[in-house]
Amino acid sequence: METLEKLKKYNQTRTLKLIENLSKDKAKSAALTELLKSLETVDFDELFKIYNESKQEVIIDETKIKQLPYLVKKELNPCLAKLFYDLGTEVLNSGQYAVVTMAGGQGTRLGHDGPKGTYSLDIDGSRKFIFEILKENLEETNQKTGKIIPWYIMTSPENDAPTKNFFKNHDYFNYSKEDITFFKQNHMPLIDVYDQLLIDKNYHLKEASDGTGSVYRSLKNDGCLEDMKKRGIKWVFIGGVDNILLKQADRILLGMAIFKNVEIASKTIVKSYPEEKVGLFCQYDNHPRVIEYSEMPIEISYEEDENHELKYKEAHIMCNLYTIDALEYLAEKTLPYHIAFKKNSYLDEFGTEIVPKEPNSYKLESFLFDGFPYFDNIALLRGDREEDFAPIKNKEGKDSSETAKVLYKRYHATH
Ligand code: UD1
Repeated sequence: METLEKLKKYNQTRTLKLIENLSKDKAKSAALTELLKSLETVDFDELFKIYNESKQEVIIDETKIKQLPYLVKKELNPCLAKLFYDLGTEVLNSGQYAVVTMAGGQGTRLGHDGPKGTYSLDIDGSRKFIFEILKENLEETNQKTGKIIPWYIMTSPENDAPTKNFFKNHDYFNYSKEDITFFKQNHMPLIDVYDQLLIDKNYHLKEASDGTGSVYRSLKNDGCLEDMKKRGIKWVFIGGVDNILLKQADRILLGMAIFKNVEIASKTIVKSYPEEKVGLFCQYDNHPRVIEYSEMPIEISYEEDENHELKYKEAHIMCNLYTIDALEYLAEKTLPYHIAFKKNSYLDEFGTEIVPKEPNSYKLESFLFDGFPYFDNIALLRGDREEDFAPIKNKEGKDSSETAKVLYKRYHATH
């Protein structure tokens, strides 16, 4: 059988033994059918090609890195700030603006059982969901413009149904239902440290969402770009789901992008310490680029400038704005895959579920900012950590719901 041949070719001994054991047990025939069906869909040659390529070390050549120019929002000349504000307002008022929320992540670090956007925080005695907070931020703009920003929410194969049900059960938080579109990103099989595929407890190949770089192609494949064009959208904001101070329609950022005539603009904040887990903007080989924290050489993270400040400190906070043309262009590109080491349970050859205590497997992910080097220039606006960044990444400690809540309350007490 073709699937067995493919498994042999790629030395999938654990799965082959599991299949052998299942076929000996009549009571397990349904499980065997499920397993074989799920393996049939895998293009093994393509998967192991991507996997082997992604294992190669990312070489960052320091001689090719330069700082990328940026403007500081709080230090803009008032006339320029007004000009940017007015330009941005014009686009918002004319309904040419859409927002995409990438909500397909696994959220493993948070330990929440469900899509990350369905996580709730206790804000002054009332519980608020992350999706609800993002919706309130959109509503703030809608109330001023009298238009409704079309909202596109990226889910993953594993959290699509729970995300949609969540919105339905909460009556879309009173956002106009016709203006919310869900679209699904792709997934990729997980592979363990012994190069073995993982099988989940339902006898399916274990897969996970394939990273934020999936967003461009998924927007196109699911018809969202077409829908945006029909609606006359010219600018699209793409943000994450895990920052409860994310400003999804910043007029100054938008106006700056228009004024500078760029296809992509991003808001940054200053990195607060060398090993903070944020990607860093730079100019690499004469193109804009973000180097992810997991791939940044440690000595460059600590490097200082002549003022003894961190040399590379424009942090990527998933606050990125694109022209619709840039998105159409990026939808045709193949972005590289990166590898992340994660903890994932799996079935052993006897069908027993193994729950590892330590990371045991690789997740293949593409990064949305790997689209940036396709452009000669992108515009950066340095925002303010207190106003723009309250991430919820971890269960406790740094960047947890506790720290995010404090930042959220502090901001809303004064705005
Ligand atoms: C991400 C950024 C990092 C940035 C940091 C700021 C990437 C690759 N990394 O890192 O540069 O400094 O946020 O907080 O962009 N998501 C999906 N699908 C996926 C993976 C993630 O929709 O396949 C979504 C998540 O739901 C979340 C966001 O993307 O909204 C960020 O995900 P995560 O991979 O946890 O980001 P970080 O590692 O914190």
